[in-house]
Amino acid sequence: MGTPVLSNPCTVVIKAPTSPTVDIARQELESHWSLGSRVSLVLNKKLRLGEGYRIIAKRKGTSYEAAVHASRPIGLLYGAYDLLRMQNSGTLALHGSHANTAVDKVERPVFPTRMLNHWDNLDGSIERGYAGKSIWKWEQISNGTMTETLRSRIQQYAAANASLGINASVLNNVNASPKMLTREYLDKVKLIADILRPYGITTYLSINFATPMALGDTKTADPLDKDVAKWWKKKAKEVYSLIPDFGGFLVKANSEGQPGPGDYQRTHAEGANMLADAVKSYGGKIIWRSFVYGANHKNEDRVKQSLSEFKPMDGKFRPNVILQSKNGPLDFQPREPFAPIFMHLKKTPQYGELQITQEYLGQSKHLVYLAPMWKEFFSFVHPSLMQGIAAVANIGDDANWCGHPFSQANWYAFGRLAWNPELSSEEIADEWLRQTFSMPDEAIATMKSVMMESREACVNYMMPLGLHHIFKFDHHYGPEPDGFKADYPLEWCPVYYHRADSIGVGFDRTVATGSGATAQYPEPYASEYDNIATCPEEYLLWFHHVPWTYRMKSGKTLWQELCDKYNAGVATVRNHRYIWHYKMKPYVDAERWQHVDTLLNHQLDNAREWRNVCLDYFQTFSKLPVE
Ligand code: GCU
Repeated sequence: MGTPVLSNPCTVVIKAPTSPTVDIARQELESHWSLGSRVSLVLNKKLRLGEGYRIIAKRKGTSYEAAVHASRPIGLLYGAYDLLRMQNSGTLALHGSHANTAVDKVERPVFPTRMLNHWDNLDGSIERGYAGKSIWKWEQISNGTMTETLRSRIQQYAAANASLGINASVLNNVNASPKMLTREYLDKVKLIADILRPYGITTYLSINFATPMALGDTKTADPLDKDVAKWWKKKAKEVYSLIPDFGGFLVKANSEGQPGPGDYQRTHAEGANMLADAVKSYGGKIIWRSFVYGANHKNEDRVKQSLSEFKPMDGKFRPNVILQSKNGPLDFQPREPFAPIFMHLKKTPQYGELQITQEYLGQSKHLVYLAPMWKEFFSFVHPSLMQGIAAVANIGDDANWCGHPFSQANWYAFGRLAWNPELSSEEIADEWLRQTFSMPDEAIATMKSVMMESREACVNYMMPLGLHHIFKFDHHYGPEPDGFKADYPLEWCPVYYHRADSIGVGFDRTVATGSGATAQYPEPYASEYDNIATCPEEYLLWFHHVPWTYRMKSGKTLWQELCDKYNAGVATVRNHRYIWHYKMKPYVDAERWQHVDTLLNHQLDNAREWRNVCLDYFQTFSKLPVE
């Protein structure tokens, strides 16, 4: 991302009151706009574009005349970044035939909230982080100041996000430390919020539901206890005195060992509403996660539990409570059917939660472009069903931010889709490649197809045909289909999910003979998924326990098809590795080329491991030959 700073800055004509945000827009254009000697930023409140903007650019001879119009300063900044994106990806260019000679377009974000969720801990580690340590160097912030290195890194972070339109950031892990809300840390958060603000980014925090008790201020964390509610009110007042535009709290409660209202026989609604009342007068939000299992409905199929828990609460939440749910009903698998909760709660605002960090997709070792997976989600769950979209960030303190050079494309793609989910995965990959590498069109096209194939390849070499959660325990990298630990919850054990036996493989979630999870889907999906003959094959083993010799649409048996999928996944990675190794070297600097080359070798080894381990294991049940 980014272009070299220009030696002949252009003149930015500003028709807007001065503001830190407009100032950033001016600086960015002065430093990076090279298609004309003048560019205008025009603020006009009557335009009613919200965070949006209008760009007018015309080629006149050897330069462009360009202007950004917006009704708010943030619109001007977003528009400025869009101009730079058009320049850096070749949509506007002085040479070459495919550039536009004139552009007049209006852009408005589709999701009002476009949010990153950092799973960063106060000790600098990151839950499921694969790109180094946390970028929030808490120890470098004290007495109201921070080191210049830290300030500049956070500014770069803010600029990168603003260039994509990301407008909200939760700084810390959903498995939150009670210390986050101590004055010591809030003073530090304030300084970060001050840096993010002019970039249009609202700061949020994850909280531990038992904070007042954990800090020794109350005897209980019961949401209906007066002292507890009072504590939260006071805390909210303190937070807002430091950060007047603070966004609110993200809460993981009664899930995977986190405390919550259930510890006091209170409902999620009672817990969320108590917090909502505390932040209400400041315009704050409570974002309550529906990722809850193993509590009230623990004997139910895990994928059904969040809907069972939250459906009865629809209509019971305060208006400033938002329910945030993962895209699929389980846990960020390489492929999941969509989570039906988005269709069922009619009175509760919802956010979708995606995962940019590739916890279950090869982490920062595999080249897997996630836009197609997110587009798949949006094709089932219409964006209008969600007030916002959040994603677990893949950002760390690695020099390249995201570990794998291609993982940056996923941060990029999330931001672009949060702005406009109608953009195609190809368009986004194209933009990203052109801004990231200087490659001829042919090489861009080749790498675009590598990116476009990469997610399906990952599904194929890890868990094709609807298999899920057969990862190694704890770290979730690599296969462990025989995984079972008697002292672990059954829902963490791979054998619970694939259910392989001498007859077949897959999780029966049908109504007649299985867990009935298919019935949580609206029609036509419920019937389609419930019937083995109509269930899309990519979800087959998610919803059905299928005989090894079952005839697939291809005419092959399930066993053959499974072998072929695993082989196809490995073959695709082998091809990607070949392309990079033999064709891309001339177009990429030595360091990045080497880095990606090494990673692709590693990915190929790991893909083979997935195939070999899984097929060897399943063969002990199918007793059929591996072809
Ligand atoms: C996954 C992940 C955990 C995380 C959890 C969550 O289970 O492995 O590390 O805390 O999701 O989303 O809360």
